[in-house]
Amino acid sequence: MDKYNLSKLNEYLIKTSIDRLYIITDEVVNRLYMDYLKSFIGDIDQYVYILPSGEENKTIDNILSIYDDLIEKNIDRKTLIVSFGGGVVGDVAGFVASTYKRGLNYIQIPTTLLAQVDSSIGGKTGFDYKGFKNIIGSFYFPEAIFIDVSFLKSLPYREVVCGLGEVLKYGLIADYSLFQFTKDNLKYIYNKDLDILMSIVDRSIAIKQDIVTKDRYDRGLRNILNLGHTIGHSIEAYYNFSKYNHGEGVILGMMYEFYMAWELDLIDRNYFKEVYNILSSILYPISFKQKEIEDLIHIMKNDKKNIGDSIVFVLPVDRGKVDVFYHVEEDLIIKTLKGDWF
Ligand SMILES: NC(=O)c1ccc[n+]([C@@H]2O[C@H](COP(=O)([O-])OP(=O)(O)OC[C@H]3O[C@@H](n4cnc5c(N)ncnc54)[C@H](O)[C@@H]3O)[C@@H](O)[C@H]2O)c1
Repeated sequence: MDKYNLSKLNEYLIKTSIDRLYIITDEVVNRLYMDYLKSFIGDIDQYVYILPSGEENKTIDNILSIYDDLIEKNIDRKTLIVSFGGGVVGDVAGFVASTYKRGLNYIQIPTTLLAQVDSSIGGKTGFDYKGFKNIIGSFYFPEAIFIDVSFLKSLPYREVVCGLGEVLKYGLIADYSLFQFTKDNLKYIYNKDLDILMSIVDRSIAIKQDIVTKDRYDRGLRNILNLGHTIGHSIEAYYNFSKYNHGEGVILGMMYEFYMAWELDLIDRNYFKEVYNILSSILYPISFKQKEIEDLIHIMKNDKKNIGDSIVFVLPVDRGKVDVFYHVEEDLIIKTLKGDWF
């Protein structure tokens, strides 16, 4: 998958043999940025499909409506699908592109920090069904991804934190200097300094692309991308995906998982403290009660990373390095979630 600056879009489109674009976006991005996007497209026929905004719209019903529209407009394989929005639009547009007429070419133009550093890279598409997140989907890789960090100027604070969780994670799994750079520049990130954003987005994309290239279909190495996710996802799910967004879950999850790693002697106290202090300055951890911990562990036991009965954790072993652990004592998980240590 190639990555370009958005300013290269027109040049890219001229080189491809497509004869029209089918842009899938959501109502917020359409209102804020459709005219801006069109200024980079030039003289190519285009249709726009506007989804309502938000996770609750990542549904089969919306996907069926897009198929109906594609059929009505006689869209064929000479059409390029353009995903223009955050992770919700990207997952839906990617799924449509992967299934309609057994696959149309598509590109990603991500507009949230999370989509720029994470969801637009890696080829995972899909939708939520019967309360299960991303339960149906496919692997389908975009031809290219186009980045413009100026989209992030209008992003609300919580959406910035959401992407930040993944950026900090990349630093902790693969490049400690990215973690340090991000923590040292938090103020500029919140203030949407475009040079700083460009730097963290570029470095994050390179890390994710490198891991995905080595394990396209998530059979091994990609597991390290799940640092913070075992506990983080259980917290998100425990609160019905309504109290914490994904990045907040990852930030919380990393705090608890770093504590576990320190208890297991995988990392020293200084490293644990360094990371904990930054993460807890973004989001304070929660002390869970016994019943809550039982529910969280029950959710973790259903995690798709697990093998057999044991809960799989990705834990830090050094600065910017992690490993996968298949046997962690339940007592340690309980002690960690009780939170007497913060
Ligand atoms: N495919 C993958 O590998 C992968 C990885 C991580 C997450 N995801 C999925 O991504 C989704 C979350 O993505 P998200 O956090 O981008 O959420 P999102 O797509 O819902 O976007 C968040 C909100 O920001 C708005 N928005 C988008 N761009 C904006 C901009 N530039 N300025 C202002 N507002 C803007 C959207 O309308 C929406 O209201 C989840 O469904 C998750 O499952 C997929």
